[in-house]
Parts: sequence; C-alpha cells; structure tokens
Amino acid sequence: MKAAVLYSAGEPLKIEELEIPKPQVGEVLVKLVATGVCHTDYAPYSGDMPVPPPIVLGHEGAGIVEEIGPGVTLVKPGDHVILFVLPSCGKCRQCIIGKPYLCEPVSEVLLGGTMMDGTTRLKKKDGTPINTFFCQSSFAEYAVVYESAAIKVSDDIPLDKVCVLSCGVSTGIGALVNKAKVTVGSTVAVIGCGGVGQSAIVGANLCNASKIIAIDVADNKLKFAKEIGATHTINSAKEGVMERIQAIAPGGVDYAFECIGKPATVVLALDCVRFGGTAVVVGMVPWGTTVGIDAMFLLFDKTLTGCIGGSTRARVDIPGWVDLYKAGKIPLDKMITRTYKLEQVNEALEAMEKGEVIRSVILF
Ligand code: CU
Repeated sequence: MKAAVLYSAGEPLKIEELEIPKPQVGEVLVKLVATGVCHTDYAPYSGDMPVPPPIVLGHEGAGIVEEIGPGVTLVKPGDHVILFVLPSCGKCRQCIIGKPYLCEPVSEVLLGGTMMDGTTRLKKKDGTPINTFFCQSSFAEYAVVYESAAIKVSDDIPLDKVCVLSCGVSTGIGALVNKAKVTVGSTVAVIGCGGVGQSAIVGANLCNASKIIAIDVADNKLKFAKEIGATHTINSAKEGVMERIQAIAPGGVDYAFECIGKPATVVLALDCVRFGGTAVVVGMVPWGTTVGIDAMFLLFDKTLTGCIGGSTRARVDIPGWVDLYKAGKIPLDKMITRTYKLEQVNEALEAMEKGEVIRSVILF
C-alpha cells in the first residue's frame, strides 16, 4: 500500500510502499476513502510535536472496514467508519468515569509511535518497522486502528465530508458543547479562525450563544466566520481586541476559546472573559509552552482550562454530530474548501499552514 512517511521533522513526507498491516486483538483494518488534513499533522512535520520518525502521519481517516482482528464486536467487514483521533481502552479509570479522550494506556503511547502493546503494525516491504501516529496513520491506503476508534456510520453518509469529524471539527464543537457546556444566550469569543476555530463557531451556534465574536488577523477567515454564524468579527491586526470586546459584551464575554495554540492568545482568552467566565485552550500549544497570567483573575472566579479532542466521547458524540451534519446544522460541505491526492500531501500541509484552506481532505 502507498503511505506518506515522515523521516525527519522539517523534511517533506515521502510516499513509500508499505505492507498492508494486519489487525491484532481488538483492532480493525480499514481501507481509507478519505482523510482530513489537520494542524496536528503539521506539528510533527514542523517539529512542534515530538513523535519518533519514521512515522506515517494522518489521524482524520474515514473508510470501510476490510478485516477485523480477534475479539472485535463493534464493527464488521463492510461497515463504513469514521476513525476518531483518540482511541480508548474502555477499562481504565478515565474511560470508566466517562472521559475516554483521556484514556490512560492510550495516553501513554499516543505520541510514542506505537499501539498499546508497544509495537507498530506498519512496516516496509523489507521489514523495516514504521511508527504509527495516534494509533491511526491515515495518510495511507489502509490503516489499523482500535475498534474503539472506528465509529460506524450508515452507508449513505459521505465519508469524504464526515472524516473531518475525526479530529479538527469535533475538537472545535466539543470544546463548547462538552467541555465548556456553553449555555443558551451566553456570549462567546473565538480566538483564531482556522479549521478548529470555525468549528468552535459552529459549536457556539449549536449552543445558541447570543453573541459569537470571531477574532483573527485574516479578513478572509473572518468573512467565512460570519458566513457560518459569527455575529461579530474583530481583525486583531487592525483593531484593539479588548476595546472591541468591551463594546460588544461589556464586562467581557462569558466564554473564550483559544484556537491557535500561542502563549499570547492563551493570555488574551483569560483577559477577555468577564469575572466568573471561562477561557478554554483548544489550540495545539507546542510542547513545553508556559504562559504568565494575572493571578488576580483567578480570585475573581475566572477559569482557565483546556481540552483535548474537544472532550469528545467518540461513540456517543460523533453519531449525533453526523446527524446534525445531515440536518444542515454542521456545514462540513462549506468548511472543506480543497481536496488532494495522497501524493499531494506536502502541498496540503503547506496550504493549511499558510491559511489558504478552512479544512482540506485527501481522497483515496
Ligand atoms: Cu487533528
């Protein structure tokens, strides 16, 4: 099978011929139909996320189950599935208390390049092992994933659209509906309007927020934000963000979502919520990032928190969000602004980083 392999951070991915992987206990082999291109794929490519090369990136896959390993009961060959970015064991403390996105054995291996048993399913024809990314590696014609990550959808759902629910879009929506639990009529600021930020705006609409303030430096992204439901926009390169927010939501917004992953915007998120408000870090902050905050804000009951993968409980939330997509309430068709072939994966990563696309998808 063809797969895009990262050999070293900063170098383009290389299309290689690998063996078709074999699913083991609890695992599923999926023939990819489509995979989204997400900032989390860019991070190892640019060196901001320490994952061990050689590795096949990609973590927003969708496809058709080809084969199941021993013990698999959730899906069968022929099923259409979305491959969620965060698998879960179903047995650990986090899984049992309803936080499968923090699954303990998965968290231990997620960035280590292997499955939970410490080995990888991917190898070259000559036997050289290749590491796996988020136990998925969907920049390839086939992927082996845990059955917990393979979310069954009905056959009439377009996999080339719903694949982006595997990570980026779920992260944005879930930050509002699962993590912050934004209340009806409240005010929301979304800082950074890339794919995740635009998804957060969709989430704000699903929560019936009364004011949805989109903040970015790019006018084209702000225009798009308006099209999908932002009520106000602020171009932070041209306008004073705090002054504009005070004018729109005196005292500050109820909730702010940082969707970039930079220290300055994490601080801004906490600055712009009212006393008692909540700032949520959603953006992929580079490993080791520290921020300085005004601790007085904590005395005045501001909350600074964050979430991974939008605190999405994949098997609960994704089927519901697929239905909302079908009902026209999650505008994935509009949000996917470009498609590519696997051979164009480097082009796709660069275009995303330059802000040329909202979301892009690789088609197999
Ligand atoms: Cu992602």
